[in-house]
Parts: sequence; structure tokens; C-alpha cells
Amino acid sequence: MAFYSEKVMDHFANPRNIGEIKDADGIGEVGNPVCGDMMTFYIKVKDNKIEDVKFKTFGCGAAIAVSSMISEMALGKTVDKVLKITNNDVAKALGGLPPNKLHCSNLGADALHKAIQDYKNKKNNIF
Ligand code: FES
Repeated sequence: MAFYSEKVMDHFANPRNIGEIKDADGIGEVGNPVCGDMMTFYIKVKDNKIEDVKFKTFGCGAAIAVSSMISEMALGKTVDKVLKITNNDVAKALGGLPPNKLHCSNLGADALHKAIQDYKNKKNNIF
């Protein structure tokens, strides 16, 4: 496990914001085509800011660490700011990921951005 940074190990062992929001304003789910793992994000938005965020990840340790880190990065930020967080930003915030685990970081931002899009569609009544 030496190839994982301390931050990755910390977020994997003690994931933040794990769970589900029953009355979520937006839900985003993505699957990783490389390994078949799944990640779902739930958000509550107030005054255009992420008031609450939760996730469920059926995936590897890196995917869980990525979900946990991006949930912390998003909390309290405006939805437009969160849309600018890239998969690369998350990997960087985790102190890097091993090259063969970089595909795992792709789920995080994609799933969260999808949840924001879902929120925006509902707000604008686009179904
Ligand atoms: Fe599937 Fe990491 S191996 S997300």
C-alpha cells in the first residue's frame, strides 16, 4: 500500500460524507467503464451553494478516497465553482494517485457534476 499517499489512506479509512440524502435536490450516478465500479452523489443546494453532499461508492479504495475528498472540496461552494473542479484537481488534492489508479479519479468529478446538472435541470423544469 506504500504507493498510496497518506491523504488517500486517510480518506479511504475514514471517508467523509458517506451516505444518501433522501430528499436530494440533485442526484448523479456514473459507472467506470474500465472496472464496472459505481458512484452516486446526492446534493442539497441552498442559495446556489452546496449545503450538503453525500455519496455512495461501490468501488476500490482510490474511488472511495476520491469521493470523500471531492465531497469536502464541494461543501459550502457555489454550484458553478464546483463545476470547475476537475478530476485532476481531486487527484492532486489527494497527493496524487498511482498511474494505474488514475481512472478511478474520473468518477468523482463526473458524478458530482452530474448531480449538479440534475439539480439545474429540475430547477429549470427540464426533464
Ligand atoms: Fe474501479 Fe478504482 S478500480 S474505481
